[in-house]
Amino acid sequence: DLSNIILNMRDFEKAAEELCPKVGWAYYASAADDEITKEENNTDYKKLRFRPRVLRSVREVDASTKILGYDSTLPLYISPAAMAKLGHPDGEVNLTKGAASAGIIQGISSFASCSPEEIVAARAPNQPLFFQLYINSKRHIAKGVVEKINKLGFNAILLTVDAPVGGKRERDIRAKGEFEAPKSDTYDKQGDTKGVAEAIFSAVDPDLSWKDLKWLKEQTDLPIIIKGIQTVEDAVQAYKYGADGVILSNHGGRQLDTTQTGISTLLEIRKHAPFLLRPECRVPMGPSKELIENPDLLTPSKPLNEKPLDRKFSIFVDGGIWRGTDAVKAICLGADAVGVGRGFLFAQTVAGVKGVEHAIKIFESEIQLTMRLLGATKIEDLRPSMVDFADPQRE
Ligand code: FNR
Repeated sequence: DLSNIILNMRDFEKAAEELCPKVGWAYYASAADDEITKEENNTDYKKLRFRPRVLRSVREVDASTKILGYDSTLPLYISPAAMAKLGHPDGEVNLTKGAASAGIIQGISSFASCSPEEIVAARAPNQPLFFQLYINSKRHIAKGVVEKINKLGFNAILLTVDAPVGGKRERDIRAKGEFEAPKSDTYDKQGDTKGVAEAIFSAVDPDLSWKDLKWLKEQTDLPIIIKGIQTVEDAVQAYKYGADGVILSNHGGRQLDTTQTGISTLLEIRKHAPFLLRPECRVPMGPSKELIENPDLLTPSKPLNEKPLDRKFSIFVDGGIWRGTDAVKAICLGADAVGVGRGFLFAQTVAGVKGVEHAIKIFESEIQLTMRLLGATKIEDLRPSMVDFADPQRE
């Protein structure tokens, strides 16, 4: 019984390190260069403190929400991560089944071990699935992939833009060994490659630019989310080029080391382009004069910036979400949902579908507990005023 052994997501990580074959562990755990960004993805959440409100009647709590219009039991989804079969023989299908039974959304990597057809065959009726797209240097291949994604009924495209080339992942390079290739039309290993990551990235087009977003929009009616935005400037650019949203992400620290974290990019957007946020989140974090004068209010009545958006623009954050508290901090500050990559890879490595279901239960109970202790009974109650920097000098 997993629930006696695995109390939190880090327990899955420890168990996976023991159970996972060497090449898989090196690929999953690795990050770029000195792995500083991977570490900061965790520590940046620890620099934020909660400001819980009390006596708000928290017996019933509902953490459900909508992600791109699709129901989700949590403001959390499975981030697309390649090569799930390096950890478990059933691969991504474990995640598809676990996501279905728990009612959350799965992102599927362009370099999944299972083919898109196999994943769709395992899908429950009406189960939403998002497809992560890498554009192959041979454009006719990319076009074929998008046609397939349209036809198979995926519900959104996550276009990854932080990996025009692969980062330098030394654990992965050192572990260099045999592995089963992903079942992917995009995969086209070029030459003699060192490690799983180099093999994967050898076919990805490093020439991609903003005009290719226009091209992609012509190939599909699906919403397009740009994954791997690391500055406020690029978040605004994505909005201007017609994307339906962004994922603030540094690819789990696997690309440019010492870049800023997803949650820091969200703070940058809050400061410099708050119009991208939902109106109720366009207010400062920490104590505010208006809330002190009207402590019954959930949020100050005057958003920082009134400029309306001409369409819904979603903001997601990933990297270093290991606890319900991490997820709730991001939601308070204006994220629509958060993504978890390694945590779910490790959960399926340890116990397949059951592992994934247990991982989602852990997040569910931690998120619900955090909400109750914060004085919030639904996702809309989570507000910027419930969070502040631990170090008041920071801003
Ligand atoms: C990834 N990630 C990723 N992203 C993507 O867009 N396409 C991909 O194929 C992959 N593959 C991949 C493999 C592995 C092993 C990892 C760990 C990550 C990045 C992923 O979607 C997400 O951004 C990070 O994993 C989030 O950080 P955490 O949750 O792992 O800390």
